[in-house]
Amino acid sequence: MPSDDELDVPEGARYLHICSNETIGGIRFPEFPDVGTPLVVDMSSEFLARRIPWHLVDVVFGGVQKNLGPAGMAVVFVRTSILEETARDLAAYLRFDTHADKDSMYNTPPVFTVWMTGKVLRWMEARGGTPAIERDAASKAAAIYGVIDESDGWFRSPVEPAHRSHMNIVWRLPSDELEAAFLAASKERGMLGLKGHRSVGGIRASVYAAMPAEGVDALVDLMRTFRAQHA
Ligand SMILES: Cc1ncc(COP(=O)(O)O)c(C=O)c1O
Repeated sequence: MPSDDELDVPEGARYLHICSNETIGGIRFPEFPDVGTPLVVDMSSEFLARRIPWHLVDVVFGGVQKNLGPAGMAVVFVRTSILEETARDLAAYLRFDTHADKDSMYNTPPVFTVWMTGKVLRWMEARGGTPAIERDAASKAAAIYGVIDESDGWFRSPVEPAHRSHMNIVWRLPSDELEAAFLAASKERGMLGLKGHRSVGGIRASVYAAMPAEGVDALVDLMRTFRAQHA
């Protein structure tokens, strides 16, 4: 991940677009870049599981399908002072001011997704809101990275500790065969979807907001047991 110094932002750029958490490599910006240019941030994969430094951003957007609800909707936060700037030669639907003027109901809203997202937001609020979800995420991720780091390199994280995602934890085993065996063992225990993204392989645990600590405990237990049996 680039440091602020390494980001080559052209003079006069109107914004810098970043993806604050990337799900395939399992990386995140530990801090949002502070380069004097407003940020437009895709937070799909860590929405409301991380506080937003509003002084740095003009736009935050994301699909709800990871932390907030079923697929089919995106949530966009736009600084109201820039709404007028979107009134350019764009199709009506692509203009943020169109949606703002119509209370986000310019088109037919996906009501089931809206309703489910509302339920999730209430659940998040009852847990203590974003600060609590952020804390939970850090502790769930730390539990899994802990097992990786205590394994003397048997489990291997390809990501520098400072840039490790709290949502998507990726790691490797010593061989493709052991990775296949690990996935089979996880399936036997009822844990699904641990295969890494097809473009990079390996193992990936996505621990979005709805994943309870018990799910992480079960995974941690499997990792320790599997290593004891195969290392
Ligand atoms: C950060 C991020 N942005 C965008 C997407 C893609 O979202 P969509 O499939 O809704 O375009 C994903 C993954 O689904 C993602 O993790």
